[in-house]
Amino acid sequence: MIAIISVVLGIKKHSMRIRPLYIFILFLLFVSCKSSQRSAEGIVSINPYSYTGEKRTVSENGAVVSAHTLASEVGVSILKKGGNAFDAAIATQFALAVVYPGAGNLGGGGFLVGRNAEGKLISIDYREKAPGLAHRDMYIDKDGKADTDKSQNGHLSSGVPGTVAGLFETMQYAKLPLKDLISPAIELAEKGFAISKNEAASLNGLQFALKKQNTVMPVFVKNIPWKAGDTLVQKDLANTLKRILEKGAAGFYEGETARLIVEEMKRGHGIISLDDLKNYKAKQRAPHIFNYKGYTIIGMSMPSSGGVLLHQMMKMVEDRNIASMGFHSTAAVQLMTEAERRAYADRAEYMGDADFYKVPVDMLTNDVYLQQRMKNYDPAKATPSSEVGPGVLVAAESEETTHLSVIDKDGNAVAVTTTLNNGYGSRTVVGGAGFFMNDEMDDFSIKPGVPNLYGAVGGEANAIQPGKRMLSSMTPTIVLKDNKPFLVVGTPGGTTIPTQVFQTLVNIIDFNLSTTDAVYKPKFHHQWLPDLFYFEKGFPESAVTALQKMGYTTRLRGAIGRTEVIKVLPDGKFEAVADNRGEDAAAGW
Ligand code: GLY
Repeated sequence: MIAIISVVLGIKKHSMRIRPLYIFILFLLFVSCKSSQRSAEGIVSINPYSYTGEKRTVSENGAVVSAHTLASEVGVSILKKGGNAFDAAIATQFALAVVYPGAGNLGGGGFLVGRNAEGKLISIDYREKAPGLAHRDMYIDKDGKADTDKSQNGHLSSGVPGTVAGLFETMQYAKLPLKDLISPAIELAEKGFAISKNEAASLNGLQFALKKQNTVMPVFVKNIPWKAGDTLVQKDLANTLKRILEKGAAGFYEGETARLIVEEMKRGHGIISLDDLKNYKAKQRAPHIFNYKGYTIIGMSMPSSGGVLLHQMMKMVEDRNIASMGFHSTAAVQLMTEAERRAYADRAEYMGDADFYKVPVDMLTNDVYLQQRMKNYDPAKATPSSEVGPGVLVAAESEETTHLSVIDKDGNAVAVTTTLNNGYGSRTVVGGAGFFMNDEMDDFSIKPGVPNLYGAVGGEANAIQPGKRMLSSMTPTIVLKDNKPFLVVGTPGGTTIPTQVFQTLVNIIDFNLSTTDAVYKPKFHHQWLPDLFYFEKGFPESAVTALQKMGYTTRLRGAIGRTEVIKVLPDGKFEAVADNRGEDAAAGW
């Protein structure tokens, strides 16, 4: 090696006298070259102390797109190792639990929508559950007022976590041993990784809440401000991951980790018990499937409202030739807004955990019903939400959630959205176990008509009951064309999730936008109540002014969602696009 480099540098020309110096310099170069290769040859495939991500990749063998460069790279390294999209999705989630503590998680829950190489359509529900001691009025104070501080912060806001059970339920579709899938996360937690400027800012902004909500100060609390490039080491989390490696799901739901969770609950007046943890089960459910203009859309069924809302919104616009109206035209935006408003009114009234409440899915997605819902749609003016209300059925997320999309060359495709609810969930880290607990209890309707964190209201369908799953908006989605994967899509964003997936699909299918434009162009959102049309910076002013004249109350807001899309191109290659609203990254090979 040294001889080769010497030749390249022309060292042979130099005298014997200076040769030892050159050889010493070359030796140093060789050593430093070896040490920078260590991260490339180790479990974590890129250097976690110095890395940059790609926003768009085009690849032949597979792709992963997620909220964090290191997590996307972990996913691709698993594909390279011979794992399929399910293996990569599991490894990416474990990695996100370490490198993206605001939403990647062990202490939260999520949903997976998948399609395996044999064409089997899969959905896995690992949504959190209300603890056994939960009850309908647990957040109502003595004056009858809803206490949203308790449902959104601290120990009492947590549901029983589902993520670890979900990952083990996913293992039956994976090929590689757990050790391969979890080891990169263990290494990242144990040896640490460099945080970005935004991550440092977000941890600095959280210091007050962390000190308030924790009984044992976690590694995220620091006396001097975090800054870009600081190494975040999470030893307790590494040990929790090692217990999962050693004992499987029982390494989380039983034994030491369960004991640490319950002790944390006791110290902070939370109610999750050892039995709640031991009895938690992820559930395979039938995905919610519908057809849109010849494409098969595969979404999540209850307890996520995502699949049904997407179905309702897409069907309400399907027959109205939206493509001819033009992308971002006032006509198209208004039509989509009115569809969004009507679907969300139904969400508030009819949707909840179908294991506890009979959700009339067939009626809500019936074509005649949806046409009826649009009967008072007027292309010239806003239909006030007070005039919309939920349909009459006739007999017959700071919005911190995270999404990842994965695909492989064999036809496996996986869309996963997971959440802690608020950014960093309840802000409570389990003492000695190193992970944030969710504040998902706020996704229940804690009192009829009282808006949750996202302004969404609900009633009986989504009331708290022990063991019930709270209604979600997460919308992991796979679109098939000619029965083969075409798009793998999803986003975080609380109640804005279904409207962002809706707009991304219409942008690609109807407006024929490039994948980057479909994701990056400004989005909008209407959720019935509050009766507001939200839009992002850069949204055409002409459309906003026209909508105001039609009677809409409009409101500029911050970034909506962080949509991650993989599209299968006509030549069979995979185009992965990471949203530019965050530090999300695409990786492929
Ligand atoms: N926590 C956000 C959701 O599940 O919709």
